[in-house]
Amino acid sequence: MAGAGLEDIVAGETSISTIDGKRGVLTYRGISIHEMADHSSFEETVFLLWYGRLPKAAELDDFRNALSRETVMEDRVAAWLKSLPAEANPMSLLRTGVSLLGLADPEEGASVTPEPWKEGFRYMGQLTSGAPGFGRDHPQSRKAIRLLGRMTTLVPAIQRVMKGQPFVEPKAGRSVAFNFLRCLTGKDPEEGSEKIFDKCLILHADHEFNASTFTARVAAATLSDLHSSVVAAIGALKGPLHGGANTEVMRMLLEVKEPSKAKAWVKDALERKRKIMGFGHRMYKTEDPRATHLRRMSESLCAKVGQPQWYEMSRLIEEAMWELKAIKPNVDFYSASTYYCMGIDPEMFTPIFALSRLSGWTAHIFEQQANNRLIRPVGEWVGPQEAHWEPMEKR
Ligand code: CMC
Repeated sequence: MAGAGLEDIVAGETSISTIDGKRGVLTYRGISIHEMADHSSFEETVFLLWYGRLPKAAELDDFRNALSRETVMEDRVAAWLKSLPAEANPMSLLRTGVSLLGLADPEEGASVTPEPWKEGFRYMGQLTSGAPGFGRDHPQSRKAIRLLGRMTTLVPAIQRVMKGQPFVEPKAGRSVAFNFLRCLTGKDPEEGSEKIFDKCLILHADHEFNASTFTARVAAATLSDLHSSVVAAIGALKGPLHGGANTEVMRMLLEVKEPSKAKAWVKDALERKRKIMGFGHRMYKTEDPRATHLRRMSESLCAKVGQPQWYEMSRLIEEAMWELKAIKPNVDFYSASTYYCMGIDPEMFTPIFALSRLSGWTAHIFEQQANNRLIRPVGEWVGPQEAHWEPMEKR
C-alpha cells in the first residue's frame, strides 16, 4: 500500500510550481520564490501562475485594472453576508462567502464541458485584448478575475461581519494588497505596509500539490465549477495541519507571553506530545524558503512597531525546536508575528492565506481541466472478508 498520507506519491503533472525539499527550493513557473519575493508584485505573480509567463508592462496594467474593477461585491452578496452569524469561525464565513459569490456570479451556470474547455486553455498565455481562447473571452477566465477581485474585499468584510462594522469601499486602480488593508482597517495603508503585505501574498500564492490545492483539483476534475472547487479548497485549508496553523502560532505566542518563558514552554509542550504549530513540513528537509523571507520581515516589523518580543520569542521557539526535535519552521511560523505587528487580528491570518492561495488554486483548476481525467484512487480494503445483515433481535 502507498505510504500513509500519500507521502511521496506522484498524483499528477504540473508546470505551475515545484518544490525541491532537500535543497529548500520553491519555484513559480521555474522562477525562484526568492526572485519573485524580491522583485515581483502579487498581481504579476498571479499573471505568471495563471498564464504561464511574466506579463509585459501593458498586460500587467490591464490585468491590475481588471482585478481592481472586480473588487466591488454585488449589493445582494453584501446583504447576505451581513445576515451571517458574527460569532462563526472566520474560515467558515469565508467558505460561505465564496459560495454566495458563486450564486451571484453572472456566469454561475456556464457549463464546463471538456472539449471547449481544452480549446480555451490552449491559449493560456494570451490574455490581452483581442487574444483568442482563454483570455477575457473565456467564461472561466472572467470568473477567475471576478473571484480574485471580490476576494480582496470579501476577506476584510468577514472581519467586519464579526465585529459588526460597516463594509469599506475599495479604491479603483489600487493593488490587491492596498484594497485588502484599506477595507480591513478603514484607512488607506502606508506604502510600507502595502509592500510588506504584497510580499506575504506572493510568498503564499502557490505550493505544488498541497492539501487544499489537491482538493481543488479533485473537485475540478469532476468538471465542477470554479467556485465549488474553491469552496472545497477553503475547507481543506481551514485545518490546523494546513493553513489554520498561522492563527494557532499567534495563539501560542500570546500564551507564552514573554521570551524568557519560550524555551521551557516548548519543552513542556513536546513532553505532553503536543505539536508545535508553524513547524515541520512533508516536503522540506531543510529551511522552507518562504520562512527565510518571513523571518526577516518579522524581525524588522516587530522592531519598527516597538513589539520586538514577538520576534524574540519566535527565535527562541525556533532554537528550542531545533535543539529538541531538529524541526524547522514553515511558512506559517513567522507570518504570524508579521501579520500581528501589522495590526491584523490572528483570526484573519488563515483567511489571508486563502486570499493569496486562491491564485494558485485557480491556476491548478485551469491546469487540471485543460488536460482532465477524473481523479479517483482506490482504497485498500481492511474490513471483514464477509459479513451478513442480521435481524434486529439477533444483534
Ligand atoms: N511539532 C512537533 N512534532 C512534530 C511537528 C511539530 N510541528 N511536526 C512534525 N513533528 C514530528 C511528529 O510528531 C512525528 O514524530 P514521530 O515520528 O516521533 O511521531 C514526525 O515529526 C513526523 O511528523 P508527521 O506529522 O508525521 O509529518 P507529516 O509530514 O505527516 O506532517 C505537518 C507535516 C506539517 C502536518 C506537521 O509537521 C505538522 O503537524 N506541523 C504543525 C502544523 C503546521 O505547522 N502546519 C502548516 C504546514 S506548512 C504550511 C501549510 O500547509 O499551511
